Parts: sequence; C-alpha cells; structure tokens
Amino acid sequence: MHVLGIDVGGSGIKGAVVDIATGTLVTEKLRLPTPDGARPDDIAMVVKEIVGQLNWSGKIGIGFPSLIINGVALIAANIDSSWVGLNVVELFSNATGCPVVVVNDADAAGIAEMTYGTGKAYQKGVVLFLTLGTGIGSAFFVNGHLFPNTELGHLEVRGKDAEKRASAAVRTEKNLGWKEWAERLQEVLAKMEMLFSPDVIILGGGVSKNSDKFLPYLNLRAKVIPAQLRNDAGIIGAALFASRQG
Ligand code: BGC
Repeated sequence: MHVLGIDVGGSGIKGAVVDIATGTLVTEKLRLPTPDGARPDDIAMVVKEIVGQLNWSGKIGIGFPSLIINGVALIAANIDSSWVGLNVVELFSNATGCPVVVVNDADAAGIAEMTYGTGKAYQKGVVLFLTLGTGIGSAFFVNGHLFPNTELGHLEVRGKDAEKRASAAVRTEKNLGWKEWAERLQEVLAKMEMLFSPDVIILGGGVSKNSDKFLPYLNLRAKVIPAQLRNDAGIIGAALFASRQG
C-alpha cells in the first residue's frame, strides 16, 4: 500500500509517497518553504502544490505541529494563532480533493521510529520519543502502543515552556554551544523523567544527526538514544498513521 506522507514544519513542508510495508519513500522527497506567518490558506496552498507535483490522488497523511483532536487543531505555539479551532482535515481535503488524515507531527514521527526505526527494539516498557526542532514535540509509547496527544514540550521548566529553553531552534537562535545546550536539555529531560519514568528516551529531529556532540553530556536513568529515520520520520509516520485509519 502506498500513501502520500506530508510533514508540516516550522521552516519547511515536506512530502513523499511512502510504501507502508517497508516504511521507505517511493518517490523523490519534495521540500517547499513554509510560507511566512504559517497561515492556514497559505499552508493549504503548499500542500496542494506538493500533491500536484507528485501527481497524487489517493490517501494523504499529514503530520501537523499542533494538538489535533477530531481533526481540529487546538494549540498554536509555533504557527499562526488562527489555526486554533480550525478543522484542519476539512481545510486540507478541500484544498487537495483527496481523503486526508491529520496527526500531531511528533506522534507521526514517533510511530515511524517505533515501527521502522530504532524504537523497533523497544516494544516492551515505556518509551518517550521527542522531536527537537522549532519546538519540542513528544510521543509516548507503552508496550509499543501510542498514548496520543501528549504535549510535553510545554512542560514548565524555570518558568518557561520546555521548548522555549531547549528546542533545536533555541540552540541556533541563542548561538549556544553543544555543551551549553545539552545542559538545558538535561534539565528538561530530567523533569520529564521524574514525572514519567520512561525506560528509553529517543531523541529525533534534525539535530539527532549530531547526537555524538550532545549525548555525552546527558545523564539520566533512562537509556537515551538518537532516532534513526531523521528528517523522514514525520513523512513516513504520517503516511503510516493514515494507512491505519478507515
Ligand atoms: C506543539 C506540538 C508539536 C511540537 C513540535 C509544539 O509547540 O504544541 O503539538 O508536536 O511543537 O512541532
């Protein structure tokens, strides 16, 4: 089965057709810049453009950086506030004319890692998957099953959202060295560990390719490992999630 996976991110919108049996991309991966302001109609236009360029007319899974309940976006931390309360499934299916399933971006990347990536080996116990990007997204797994819609990037650390202290974007914006950033990440992870006691923490997002630069500075009881699928996890997971619906 093939499904088009699209990952809406803070800086880019990526899409490719995914073979669900293997979790691999069967077309080229397109990446278009996220329009300034990340407003709904502008993002819908980019999604439509990707669908057109790939000449796709089947099911689409979209990973989106918000809490999504019954197709409606409920939080707008790194996107325009007009997304809150909007039925994003309707928006994207009207724009593309295709059946659309929308899922939180971190839940999407997490299920991809657990199914095809490094998480495959951890189907027993509690796994916390985090994406470190523009924000911090979380996906929680208990014995391989997703506990959906967790928003641990908004856990308060030193009076701020965790993602405002330790996302990958904060490292770049504040020009932090790896050690300095890792100290912030350590604080965030220690708080999550104290509250949820995961056995394994998988760190994803583009920054995971540099894990040798910051993992040595982390000290947690959980085993901390980098994600494997890197930047494709969101696309693959959104397609996989959609393939499991209806
Ligand atoms: C959003 C989450 C999202 C994460 C990563 C957070 O600000 O609230 O829904 O998963 O960013 O994009």
